[in-house]
Amino acid sequence: MKEKVEALKTEISKFIATKNDELEAFRLKFISRKSVIGDLFTDMKNVAKEDRKEMGLQLNELKTHAQDKFKELIESIEKRIHVESDTQIDLTLPPIPDTLGSLHPLSITKKRMLEIFERIGFNVSTGPEIEDDWHNFTALNFPENHPAREMQDTFFIEKNPDIALRTHTSSVQVRVMENQKPPIRTLSPGRVFRNEAISVRAHCIFHQVEGLYVDKNVSFADLKHTMLYFAREFFGKDTKIRLRPSYFPFTEPSAELDISCFICNQKGCKICKHTGWVEIGGCGMVDPNVLKNCNIDSDEFTGYAFGMGIERVTMLKYQINDIRLFTENDIRFLRQFKSVN
Ligand code: PHE
Repeated sequence: MKEKVEALKTEISKFIATKNDELEAFRLKFISRKSVIGDLFTDMKNVAKEDRKEMGLQLNELKTHAQDKFKELIESIEKRIHVESDTQIDLTLPPIPDTLGSLHPLSITKKRMLEIFERIGFNVSTGPEIEDDWHNFTALNFPENHPAREMQDTFFIEKNPDIALRTHTSSVQVRVMENQKPPIRTLSPGRVFRNEAISVRAHCIFHQVEGLYVDKNVSFADLKHTMLYFAREFFGKDTKIRLRPSYFPFTEPSAELDISCFICNQKGCKICKHTGWVEIGGCGMVDPNVLKNCNIDSDEFTGYAFGMGIERVTMLKYQINDIRLFTENDIRFLRQFKSVN
């Protein structure tokens, strides 16, 4: 019997259980009433009287040993189940937070604006941000010392008043007209600079998308319909437009472009200052003087041009009330545009 106890002790110590049915086999063999240990207790009656005490102690020890091992096996199997479930995909769990960046709201707007015009045949042109007087002003029919130059508070380079930071991307359109022959249908997106105090509504650096179309028989009706098309595509299919007479040196006639206020449906709100209309840019028919300055025959060709501020359009679209948010790079602001990309 002594040997049997010893043998069982080592068997118990070496026992390995990785699955529930192995655990159950252990229980049946060593723990249950009908276990081998139980049988040994029954056999006690056959043990010589003088050895019984000693044998009893040993059997009890074996019993505790089996119970301790049983607890240990349960624990190890539970642990294993945890580890395994960690490596399995549980579709009911919330997703791991998305740490990818997103497009800046101004990039989103620019991309959308370009896409809308590209669909009707416009391409994209770029030019320098540091411009000369000719491309930013003179070619665009700003007479020298004309107050119109003051309309766009310009950053000049002190040492050379001929060089300035461009105040609009119309300068790119001059470059395109100088280098290409009509038909021209081009967009000039980009950064522009004006010496303005930074406030909720204005910044000294902002972005524009300007457009130019030069061909035979381009009419004001073409301009108007293109603006309507853009407004509907960008702000929604029920959007209306309104052209208000205005003045730009490089267009004649000139107009400010308004869209119907989509926030209040023209009922009147803070955004449209209770007028039902909000301004999104300027436009007009290219002044023949500008075509002539760029060596384009103004008897043969006509054109229209338009310009919109990307900040302005973005602020309207997403109801952003402070232009400075675009340059602060506050992640809490930028993150909100993730789903818009
Ligand atoms: N260049 C003008 C501006 O920056 C916008 C404009 C472009 C107006 C084309 C008319 C035609 O204010």
